[in-house]
Amino acid sequence: MKGIVSSVAVASMLLFTGCGDTKKENNESQTTKQTAEQFVLKFSHVVSANTPKGQAADFFEKRLEELSEGRIDVQVYPSSQLYTDNAVLKALKLDSVQMAAPAFSKFGKIVPQLALFDLPFLFKDIDHLHRVQDGEVGQKLKDMVTDKGYVALSFWDNGFKQLSSSQKPLVLPEDAQGQKFRIMSSKVLEAQFHAVGANPQMMPFSEVYSGLQQGVIDAAENPISNIYTKKFHEVQKYLTISDHGYLGYLVVLSKKFWNSLPADLQEDVKQAMNEATEKERQLAADLNNEQFNLIKEYADSTGKLEILHLTDEQKEAWRTAVSKIYPEFYDNNKIGEDLIKGALNTK
Ligand code: LMR
Repeated sequence: MKGIVSSVAVASMLLFTGCGDTKKENNESQTTKQTAEQFVLKFSHVVSANTPKGQAADFFEKRLEELSEGRIDVQVYPSSQLYTDNAVLKALKLDSVQMAAPAFSKFGKIVPQLALFDLPFLFKDIDHLHRVQDGEVGQKLKDMVTDKGYVALSFWDNGFKQLSSSQKPLVLPEDAQGQKFRIMSSKVLEAQFHAVGANPQMMPFSEVYSGLQQGVIDAAENPISNIYTKKFHEVQKYLTISDHGYLGYLVVLSKKFWNSLPADLQEDVKQAMNEATEKERQLAADLNNEQFNLIKEYADSTGKLEILHLTDEQKEAWRTAVSKIYPEFYDNNKIGEDLIKGALNTK
């Protein structure tokens, strides 16, 4: 939103300070700006502004307003202020909101195959994950979303998830038995927790803090930036650095909005999105590291949180317990063997 103010201010400065041909050109460009159609792009998300997704959304707002010289007014609504979780996908279809970056699980009813990214221990590391997203598998998944009437723009990272609990330290898979884990609306995450004898409970992100605080749920899985910015660590006793699964997003745009944009503004959206995506990946790595240190400071200074690091053997025990769920998703209507093996074999 700020970009509009500054572009108008710059335009009026040019109007008053220009002379000769420059003045004429400035007058012409001012007239074009005044007559050109204006657009509002509302970007709704559920996390705090101080997360990789939140900061990248703010960067996208600034860049697109600059590139479009204020013809697109981007308005970012963080922390579920506008829509919670999956509700945003319906709103995008109606063009009540123009952009969102839901976690892959939230596409469950539209393109369940995106739950590929929820499969535990599927990716060796973040570089392997990016090769999958930037390659054939990622393109196939984006095409499926496009076929359902959305414009699929970019994959954004959050990072690898960690386990937390208020009941007991989660060191081996059997420690999860009987614990109530909050999950996103994902069949894969449901299967993952059933595989270790836990009790998964679907819950919108906006209710997780109170759910943990009031004991409606015992435990959760989140990347560090979501834990820190929503203070989940303050209502949990144990945090296990497990890196067992990945949380990321697909940035999608309302098709109606996209089709209403003239070609030059579509190019501006693409450029701002490419720049925001590059920045987002770096932000995800940096913020998750920075905020881990802040959680550690909290743990050390209050003694209210124990942080556990798994040995290779303990991690292997989790991998064995949960990766046996893959074949349950070989059916093409769930995820598909080709996509799962395609991701595993991506070099
Ligand atoms: C969640 O529900 O845990 C995530 O979708 C939150 C997020 O990072 O968008």
